[in-house]
Amino acid sequence: MKQIKKISLFNRVTPVEYMESASKYLKGPKIYIKRDDLTDVALGGNKVRKLEYILADAIDKGCDTVITTGGPQSNHARITAGACAKLGLRCVLILSGNKKTVLEGNLLLDKIFGAEVRFADTWNFDKINIMMDELAAHLSKNGHKAYTVPIGGASGYGAMGYAECFSEILTQEKELKVEFSRIVVAHGSGGTQAGLEIGKAENKSKKEILAMSVLFKKEKAEAYVKKEIAEGYEVLGKKAPEKIDIIINDSYLGEGYAIPDERVIETIGLLGRLEGIILDPVYTGKAFGGLIDYIKCGKINKNENILFIHTGGYPGIVNMTEKHKKYFENF
Ligand SMILES: Cc1ncc(COP(=O)(O)O)c(C=O)c1O
Repeated sequence: MKQIKKISLFNRVTPVEYMESASKYLKGPKIYIKRDDLTDVALGGNKVRKLEYILADAIDKGCDTVITTGGPQSNHARITAGACAKLGLRCVLILSGNKKTVLEGNLLLDKIFGAEVRFADTWNFDKINIMMDELAAHLSKNGHKAYTVPIGGASGYGAMGYAECFSEILTQEKELKVEFSRIVVAHGSGGTQAGLEIGKAENKSKKEILAMSVLFKKEKAEAYVKKEIAEGYEVLGKKAPEKIDIIINDSYLGEGYAIPDERVIETIGLLGRLEGIILDPVYTGKAFGGLIDYIKCGKINKNENILFIHTGGYPGIVNMTEKHKKYFENF
């Protein structure tokens, strides 16, 4: 694959671990986990890989300021703030909704990382995108150069991070002498899946990429991934393949984004107890809950090896309500 400029934010390959206890407990396939929650910067998560390419592009274009957006508990905003702090870039976050009076979770971390946090007073991201562009234009009149990053880091450059991750997984398979039939991952803005799909196509791999949507219904989620795949190929300076089969399941979305249901809470408890691994209630808890359901419904053969990508998101634990926390009281 063509080499695209990259800035090194974490300098290693993330581990792939066999989850022996969880696999035995679920009596299904062998489940492995790729620890992209351990990507070092700002408590880690999938956004770090995306930002290695996005911020390289920003620096290449001579920008001194990065502007991005997300919800008040955005992992992407937190990691962008942390990465900008590390690289000496000014970071402005225009978060959706009204100003929060309680500083907690990701919002608190944004502040600790020195980001300038503004609230958009709207949840309409089309409007927020305009606000980001207006701010960038205003800064440029005042001698600065700003780079705007779309929500979730969902851009062609962002996708490069997970195209690279796909190749990393292929190398790890050889080292571990194991072949993964499917890769399971949470789908929010779709950039992680888009990158994996590009990596899969470029490596001519037959692996299934199963994305569990935690934000959009299937149709919209698919449209996002297709757009980001196209943008990724633009960055690569290549024509995208005519057809890429995309698999997205939105059945585990529950009542909606960042609303965890009982399955999510039970899944978090299960992996905590059996593996000492923390999933988050917004992304990975939902996605892994979907994987467990697939196993229980017999949709995955016992002889398969499955790779779940842990995309991080710990600070999202603040999304647990008192009712959810009670579940753990008698655990
Ligand atoms: C912890 C975590 N997992 C998964 C995702 C989904 O990634 P993507 O937006 O690339 O679909 C996100 C995105 O915000 C995230 O923060």
